[in-house]
Amino acid sequence: MGWNSWNKFGCENINEKLIREIADAMVSSGMKDAGYQYIVIDDCWQIARDESGNIIADPKKFPSGMKVLADYVHSKGLKFGLYSTAGTKTCQGRPASWGYEFQDARQYAAWEVDYLKYDWCNNGQQNSVAAYSIMRDALKQAGRPIVYSICEWGSSKPWLWAKDVGNLWRTTNDILDCWDCKQDWGGIGIMGILDQQIGLESFAGPGYWNDPDMLQIGNGAMSPTEYQAHFSLWSILSAPLMAGNDLRNMKPEITQILTNQEVIAINQDALGIQGRKVRDDGEFEVWVKPVADGTRAVVLLNRSKAEANISVSWSEIGYPTTLIFEVRDLWQKKNLGEYRGLFAAEVPSHGVVMVKIKP
Ligand code: GLA
Repeated sequence: MGWNSWNKFGCENINEKLIREIADAMVSSGMKDAGYQYIVIDDCWQIARDESGNIIADPKKFPSGMKVLADYVHSKGLKFGLYSTAGTKTCQGRPASWGYEFQDARQYAAWEVDYLKYDWCNNGQQNSVAAYSIMRDALKQAGRPIVYSICEWGSSKPWLWAKDVGNLWRTTNDILDCWDCKQDWGGIGIMGILDQQIGLESFAGPGYWNDPDMLQIGNGAMSPTEYQAHFSLWSILSAPLMAGNDLRNMKPEITQILTNQEVIAINQDALGIQGRKVRDDGEFEVWVKPVADGTRAVVLLNRSKAEANISVSWSEIGYPTTLIFEVRDLWQKKNLGEYRGLFAAEVPSHGVVMVKIKP
C-alpha cells in the first residue's frame, strides 16, 4: 500500500516540495494509520547521467537530492520509492537503466530507496525475463531490501515467470480515470482492467502479486459510487493499493473510501488469495475472496445503468445452502443479520455492495 505520483501529477508536476507535502498528508489524513507506506516518485525525477554514468535527479525540481528526500519520507515513518525503465530511455524520454542496472541499484541503495517501479519503454526488443532478472540481481547485490515492481503491462504474461523475479507485476496497460473507456494508445478504464484479471488468480500469493495498476480514486472523473466500486474490486483482487490522487486536499468521501479499514483488511488478508468472479450475468457480477478468519468477502457488482437487485448463493461461494450465515456490510459498517442459503441486495448503478459472509 502506498502512493505514486503518476496518475495525478504525471511528468511535469512533480518536485520535492510536492513529495514532502504528500508525505505530510499521508500522515495527517489517516492514510498512514490505514496502512499506506510507500511514497513512489514515477517518471521524470531523473534528468541525465554524470561523466561516470551516475544517474542524476533533476536539480531544478529536486534541489536537495534524493537522499535528503528519502530521509524526509523516512522521518515520517514512511518508505520511499523511485521509477526507472529497462530500456534506453524511460517512457517520458528520461535516462533509463539498460546497461546501468548494477550502478543504478547501488545508487538507489545509497539513497535508501525502498521500492523500485521498473518500466518497459524503449526496451530494444530485449527478452523481458532476462531484462527484469538483471535488475533483480542488481537490487539483490546492492544489499538493501527493495520492493521490485515490474511494469511491462502484461505484454509477456509476467504472471507465468515473474514470481521469482519481482514482488508485483502489472497485468495490463495504463489505468484511466473512467468506468469503461479506452484510449488509442492503450489506456483503459476500470471495467476493462477488471475483465483482464480473469484467469490470473492462481498466479498471485503472498510476496508475488498481480498488479492491475494504481488507483484513480479521487482524481475527479468518476463518481464516489464508482470510486467505491474501484476500491472494493481492487481489494477483493488482492491488488497493490497505490493511491494516485492528491492527498493534500481530499474530499471527505474520498478519504473515507481510501481508509475503509474493513475493506483494507480484506485486501491485506494474510492468506493472500486473489478473489475471483463466480458469476457473470452480463451486467451483474459476483466476486468472492476467502479470508483467513474462515469468512468469505463478496462483492456484488452492478455494471448497468440502473439500480439492480443482485444475489449470491452459498453454493456459489463454496458453502452448503442449508446453512445460516451472518452478513456484514463493509461500507455501511453494519451487521445486516442472518441469512439462509443466499444474500441479495439492491446495488446502485456502476456500484457495489461489499459484504463479509460468516459461517
Ligand atoms: C508507463 C507506465 C505508467 C507510468 C508511465 C510513466 O506508461 O505504465 O504507469 O509509469 O509509463 O511514463
